[in-house]
Amino acid sequence: MERLRIAVQKSGRLFEDSIQMLKECNIQVDEGKDLLRVQSKNFPADILFLRNSDIPQYLEDGVAHVGIIGENLIAESAKDLEIAEKLGFSKCRLSIAVPKNSTYDGLSWLQGRRIATSYPHTLQSFLAKHNLQADLHVISGSVEIAPNIGLADAICDLVSSGNTLFQNGLEEKEILLKSEAVLAVNRHLTTELRAILDKLLFRIRAVLNAKSNKYILLNAPNDKLDEIIRILPGMKSPTLVPLALSGWSSVHTVIQEDKFWEIIHELKDKGAQGILVIPIEKMVL
Ligand code: PRP
Repeated sequence: MERLRIAVQKSGRLFEDSIQMLKECNIQVDEGKDLLRVQSKNFPADILFLRNSDIPQYLEDGVAHVGIIGENLIAESAKDLEIAEKLGFSKCRLSIAVPKNSTYDGLSWLQGRRIATSYPHTLQSFLAKHNLQADLHVISGSVEIAPNIGLADAICDLVSSGNTLFQNGLEEKEILLKSEAVLAVNRHLTTELRAILDKLLFRIRAVLNAKSNKYILLNAPNDKLDEIIRILPGMKSPTLVPLALSGWSSVHTVIQEDKFWEIIHELKDKGAQGILVIPIEKMVL
């Protein structure tokens, strides 16, 4: 029987969230130090711990069948991979930044400048799209230091919190792309591997849905129930349970967390009381 080979970053910022995601999907993975390949005992998958930048090539070659990587890396590698699902973590952007005191006044400023980057392909495409030419200095890490040591006039690198830019006296000027972790897939999987992938995706979606939704309970006077139910966007229809206190009911439903903050005041105005918001572990629609 075939096993799905899942590539995961060996170290780096996606590692912990990737392992966490697999655990939440109940795919047991032993994380022995220095292990490069681990068999899951309860799911037909092997986890390959690889260098981040190598994963797109392994995926294209079919050495790994699926991989958890950043969209930024897929764009840079220019490999033809299927993105099966966005995973909602490691959100960042690829940006051009310049020293705070620079005379930057728009994209044309970049013409002929020296730009340090670990993303030459993406940067080159961006510059070409704007009919610009620049002198690219390709370095594989600590890109933000380049302007300070006189190596470059600007940089093009990942920005997440913006802290690294701030620490190095740089200002973000242009966003080339926005990125998050995704499940990337080789386009030529066998039917058997596709079936395992579908099981994995089913679990991932249940975990992602659970993260963005909350179970909500509230008490409401019966004469306000209609109005309250109207403002509650539920999965199907809220559950109503009568309270021991006559004339009152308990309303249970599931809503998106961000929607909850939009309607909380409306709920209170309509007479809702004792509102509880409870995390959901898994959610299958
Ligand atoms: C990335 C990126 C930046 C930094 C940005 O490096 O290259 O240096 O994170 O994050 P911030 O905006 O939150 O400060 P990472 O730590 O992933 O290591 P790398 O240098 O190996 O890319």
